[in-house]
Amino acid sequence: MTEAFTLSEYIDHHPGLAMDRRDAAAVQRAFDLIAEDNAIETPSESQPVPAETIQQSKQELENTVYFLARAAQIYDEGTGNHTRRVNEYSYFLAQTVGMGTAFCEEIHYSAQLHDLGKISVDPIVLGKAGPLSETERQEMDNHTIYGHRILSQSPQLAMAAEIALNHHEKWDGTGYPNALAGDDIPLSARITQIADIYDALRTARPYKPAFDHETARGIILSGDARIDSAGHFDPKLVEAFSDTHSDFDRIWRELSDG
Ligand SMILES: [Fe+2]
Ligand SMILES: [Fe+2]
Repeated sequence: MTEAFTLSEYIDHHPGLAMDRRDAAAVQRAFDLIAEDNAIETPSESQPVPAETIQQSKQELENTVYFLARAAQIYDEGTGNHTRRVNEYSYFLAQTVGMGTAFCEEIHYSAQLHDLGKISVDPIVLGKAGPLSETERQEMDNHTIYGHRILSQSPQLAMAAEIALNHHEKWDGTGYPNALAGDDIPLSARITQIADIYDALRTARPYKPAFDHETARGIILSGDARIDSAGHFDPKLVEAFSDTHSDFDRIWRELSDG
């Protein structure tokens, strides 16, 4: 069982991470949810450690990021390994396209925070089952801005902040919140987008069944009624996915929700 983790403890460890009242309340609610969730355990490699060394500081950062990501996921859609799998797909895809060690290590813990901003979305909107009004849709889409607002206050979370802000941008410029196109979208966000969508395709959602790997692969490569592959994704990343797609299935199986 995870021990209760209070917002004041969190801020004590990260004095540079100032949040406004609304974000702070959302993070506290999320930490409370974690404390109630007996099923969640900190990964064995992430035991608390003293902060004297760089390695230990890095471990503490990764612990904190893990808690934050779990908080966001529990608040949004419950438990499961979605955020951990998104880390692994993103790390793998970054390596596949030849990114350096520093980039790969940073995306390995940053990708899981892509939807952190949902903890600041109006809970009535977040939990609404039916279609959203225009105003409600805007509030949902603002999770990109809310996540960036929280994360951008910590220099160590700069990549996580850019992923949070940009993971719903699309290659053809039709995404949100800033309608960026092509290389103007940070690579970290383009990578995380493919990872996130592949995992969503493999997972049952209220509006769709869980697809098998071949179906998910086909949608990433060629699109379907909801996803326009050429418009959504960086073509270089789609090519890398096409070359290595079986590793995505491997990661899905290794970190399945059981
Ligand atoms: Fe998102
Ligand atoms: Fe996601």
